[in-house]
Amino acid sequence: MTRKPRFIQLHPIDDTLRLDDLLAGLMQPVASVSPKYFYDDQGSRLFDAITALDEYYPTRTEATIFGSHAPDMARRFRAHAGSGFDLIDLGAGNCAKAAALFEAFGPRRYIAVDISADFLRQSIDCLQRAHPAMDMLGIGCDFSARLELPHTLYDGPVLVFYPGSSIGNFAPPDACRLLAEARAAARGGGLLIGVDLVKDTAVLEAAYDDALGVTAAFNLNVLRHLNRVAGTDFDVSDWRHVAHFDGASSRIEMHLEARRPVTVRWSGGERRFSEGERIHTENSYKWTPTAFEALLREAGFGEVSCWMDAQGWFGVFLALPA
Ligand code: AVI
Repeated sequence: MTRKPRFIQLHPIDDTLRLDDLLAGLMQPVASVSPKYFYDDQGSRLFDAITALDEYYPTRTEATIFGSHAPDMARRFRAHAGSGFDLIDLGAGNCAKAAALFEAFGPRRYIAVDISADFLRQSIDCLQRAHPAMDMLGIGCDFSARLELPHTLYDGPVLVFYPGSSIGNFAPPDACRLLAEARAAARGGGLLIGVDLVKDTAVLEAAYDDALGVTAAFNLNVLRHLNRVAGTDFDVSDWRHVAHFDGASSRIEMHLEARRPVTVRWSGGERRFSEGERIHTENSYKWTPTAFEALLREAGFGEVSCWMDAQGWFGVFLALPA
């Protein structure tokens, strides 16, 4: 018999708070919008399309690493945690990456967490049909500011799974805080995390500015999302997508640049942008294996293993508590 996945929404976002935050970001001398606004329904679909692009190597490279090493990763995790554990999938999206690990890891329960609640609900419903006997729970939750899942929802130990190098979207101090929170959420289990590594600038920049313009659409879609949630009157055609690698901070930066002088209005405010002025929408930090291992230790992990592809473009780390 097929189970029905449970779904809960944690601390539903207070719209007024979210709006204040958002508009404050737009009014900064260098305007910025949190990357979490990428992921409305349309944005989540565009992100899925990005992961299939030739230029966007992280998804397929990470999949290759799992394809070759998942049994070894599972063996090491089980040697530490035993065979009865739950799998918590952070930023689960379409749930496909975690599902691909079910066979090697054999979790007793799957808990998928994502900010895009509607998209997650559809994904987990679909996954439950493919795995009718597995206990599944979907949690709609924005864990970017704090990861704290009620302990009543699951038993330890847990394998916290955070693939796709989403950790790269956090500045190093915030990344360290999130890793420490993931360690606490694992309740004696561990963290399996995908990390994009430093490489040639041309390769990095092409991954964030693809020839088909899918990443440009993903970036520009944020303006439509803002129009919907904040009542702004952005005209997408006034803006262009810009992505470049900043070597000093080891990060790709994505911006939206005004093609002409633009005034954006909303109820109670406005912001003028001159031609060429930018809105900063995302950072994607690239790590060296050594620096990321040091970050894991700073977050309280002890034993760290890392698997990489042949080119050393991407790393999957299994981190166990100290
Ligand atoms: C979700 N995150 C890991 C992606 C990245 O590569 O930083 C988001 C993204 N932005 C543009 N393309 C992909």
